[in-house]
Parts: sequence; C-alpha cells; structure tokens
Amino acid sequence: MALLEVEDLRTGYGVLPVLQGISFSVEEGETAVLFGLNGAGKTTTVNAIAGLLPAWEGQIRLDGKVVSGLEAPKVVAAGIGLSPEGRRVFPALSVLTNLRLGAWTRKADGKKAADETIQQVFSYFPRLEERKDQLAGTMSGGEQQMLAIGRAVMSKPRVLLIDEASLGLSPKLAQTVFQVVSKINDDGTTVLIVEQNVGVLPYADQALIMEKGTITYDGRGAELEKSGDLRKTYLGT
Ligand SMILES: Nc1ncnc2c1ncn2[C@@H]1O[C@H](COP(=O)(O)OP(=O)(O)O)[C@@H](O)[C@H]1O
Ligand SMILES: [Mg+2]
Repeated sequence: MALLEVEDLRTGYGVLPVLQGISFSVEEGETAVLFGLNGAGKTTTVNAIAGLLPAWEGQIRLDGKVVSGLEAPKVVAAGIGLSPEGRRVFPALSVLTNLRLGAWTRKADGKKAADETIQQVFSYFPRLEERKDQLAGTMSGGEQQMLAIGRAVMSKPRVLLIDEASLGLSPKLAQTVFQVVSKINDDGTTVLIVEQNVGVLPYADQALIMEKGTITYDGRGAELEKSGDLRKTYLGT
C-alpha cells in the first residue's frame, strides 16, 4: 500500500469542476513531482489533499486512513504538511515565530520537541538561523520559500506537499531548494512537489503530469525525459 493514495478525486470551486476524478499514489520514502501548465489543477490537487478544499467525490488516504473530509488542521495532525503556493508566511512575525506556529498541531509534544525540530530546520536552511529574528515579510523571495518549507517541516509531516517551490527563484537558488528537499526526503519524509522547473527531475522518483484536471502521465521520473511527454506538455511538440 502506498503512503498517500488519491482515488477518483473530484473537486472544484462553486459549481465549476476542476479535478475530473483523478487517481494516483505516492510510495513511502519517495519524491513525486507534479508537472503541468498554469491552470491545469496542480494547486487544486495539493490543496484538496491538505484539506483546504472539500473532495466532492473520491477519497484521499494517508497510510490507509481516510483523510478526505477532515478539516485542514486535522489533516496536518494526521501527517500531511503543506508549503503553499505563494509562500504565505506571516509577514509581520519573525522567522522564529513563523516556525513555532508551524508546530502548533504538536503542542502536546512540548516546547523541547519543537525546539529540536527548529534546529533540524536550521540545519536544512542555515540562512533561516542567521535571520531568525528578522520579520518574514522583509526577507527575499528565496528566503521566504525556505521559511514556508521549514514551517511545513515543523509539523513533522509524513507527507510534505510543496506547491511551486522554485517559482520566482534564480536557477541556482532553485537547485539549492531542490537539494534541501532531497535531504528532507532522505531523512524519511515522503514528498509531493508541484513544479514547472524541469531541473527538479533528477530528484524525482515519480513524475506526474496534469492537464486540464486529469493526470496524463504517471511514471518513474527517470523515464519521463525519454518519454517526450514533458516536451509535449510544455512545448506542444
Ligand atoms: N479560488 C478559485 N475560484 C475559482 N476558480 C479557481 C480558483 N482557484 C483556481 N481556480 C481555477 O481552477 C483551475 C485550476 O487552477 P489551479 O489548481 O490553481 O491550477 P495550477 O496550480 O495548475 O496552475 C483554473 O482554471 C483556475 O482558474
Ligand atoms: Mg498552482
């Protein structure tokens, strides 16, 4: 059984359907990348998995347990963390406070446990430690991206969802972020990352392509380049 299972998921906004009944799963310990043009439904997919949008039909399961239908905080507590599109850090709060807020579903674990996870986040992103007292809103786009990922890591997710990790970052910084995500994955977190930058491909165990609310490719990352499906999607050739 895969760790994350999405089965016949249908959802959208108001009466407008976006996801047309999609199914895919992500194996424990792997990194899956979800590619697709703007408007394909990638954000709708990860937001639905995170419980921010209700599933109209179908089911989302984590380790066999149904999480669709749970409210977003319960989904986080169940083990799914989201670094959302557009980062959405709290601009008027410090880096440290943003990180602490990411651990709010783990209150019962106590402050010491949260502090340990903060140290772990700092080891992934030393820049965040250097800037721990800075207000998040005054940081660069790349630093805010690190913070958004770090904040999601604070919930100690079993599955980490990252929506558009490299959007607006320089190619070099994008690679840095991919490398850290790869390290987070190596440390045992299963990752589903939404990307339009094909530079992420070397880190992808699994690759998915979404077009108009359906999954049109689901295979091994290493085979996607050979298949030509990416070129077809992004360049129409
Ligand atoms: N809040 C919303 N209200 C209505 N329609 C939306 C909303 N968010 C996204 N959509 C529509 O849903 C479709 C998929 O969007 P989205 O999931 O954001 O795509 P992607 O992340 O792949 O760019 C698009 O047609 C978009 O216009
Ligand atoms: Mg999106």
